[in-house]
Amino acid sequence: MRKKATVIGAGNVGATAAMRLAEKELADVVLIDVLEGVPAGKALDLTEAAPVEKHDAKIIGATGDYSEAKDSDIIIITAGIPRKPGMSRDDLLSTNVGIMGSVTKEVAAVAPNATLIIVSNPLDAMCHVAYEASGFPKNRVIGMAGVLDSARFRAFIAMELDVSVENTHAFVLGGHGDTMVPLPRYSTVAGIPITELISKERIDALVERTRTGGAEIVGLLKTGSAYYAPASAAVEMAEAILKDKKKILPCAVCLNGEYGINDLFIGVPVKLGENGVEEIIEIELTDSEKKALQHSADAVRQLVEDMKRLG
Ligand code: NAI
Ligand code: 2OP
Repeated sequence: MRKKATVIGAGNVGATAAMRLAEKELADVVLIDVLEGVPAGKALDLTEAAPVEKHDAKIIGATGDYSEAKDSDIIIITAGIPRKPGMSRDDLLSTNVGIMGSVTKEVAAVAPNATLIIVSNPLDAMCHVAYEASGFPKNRVIGMAGVLDSARFRAFIAMELDVSVENTHAFVLGGHGDTMVPLPRYSTVAGIPITELISKERIDALVERTRTGGAEIVGLLKTGSAYYAPASAAVEMAEAILKDKKKILPCAVCLNGEYGINDLFIGVPVKLGENGVEEIIEIELTDSEKKALQHSADAVRQLVEDMKRLG
């Protein structure tokens, strides 16, 4: 049977994710937004591209009609507001909490067996909202951040060494914010750690560019935040689940003592397959890496507590 993916929020990330899901023929796609006409218009536009792009995915758009999401296998939630210059991801908290809670309840009611991929910011806090609002088990609520942050790190490594991006591999752990933890020791080119190939000074510069990668794009676009790479990242996660690939990717998941962290969504390497998060992979960290991850976890926990105070 064909798989079904619903994307909530037909804005920049949502519409691009819908396009990539369809063009890779991973699933039929439903695009839902609050805006009148926009999801239907974008879905029709994508449908009209299908003969040229050579795919047979069905794409429909709906305004607020969650019955269209019935029995979806995957739900990617991008609904909310994005950053503008001068705003941090955390500034989006109060608006996006309400949106995330309400859309998650709607989709969970019609697609109780779906796996949720959360994209809206602030990402790690939004995962907590979706987890509570859906009532889904932990393995089926997953945040997208690490794949994007690692892809940025990989792109910068490839640019630095003038090698194919396909030769690069990178891990970025922690929260999706200024405290994220890129791990140069576990970042490689054709299996060779970058610490053997790039000077410490240049690695530090690439790490800093990765940490501020989202803000760099906001500064250039001025009207919103990145969406091509974020959509690619969310769809890589969806593909791993829809095709049961057992792929190891850095994702925000709820930890249960792993890495010494409890009841907190934060980015770590996980195995993604048809059951969502099938395993949390614990890699050896040095003392300073452990400290950096703990610092990032403390920042996420503070945000989650602030959110609870907001009601
Ligand atoms: P956008 O403004 O282009 O699209 C957001 C869409 O959500 C709009 O079409 C809006 O009408 C819709 N929306 C708002 N309330 C809704 C509701 N109650 N129900 C359904 N739809 C609703 O924004 P963009 O660029 O697509 O970003 C979306 C979110 O994803 C932002 O919060 C952004 O910060 C976040 N983001 C997260 C990334 C990550 O790495 N986790 C990367 C990129 C973006
Ligand atoms: C990014 O990293 C805005 O979180 C988004 O581009």
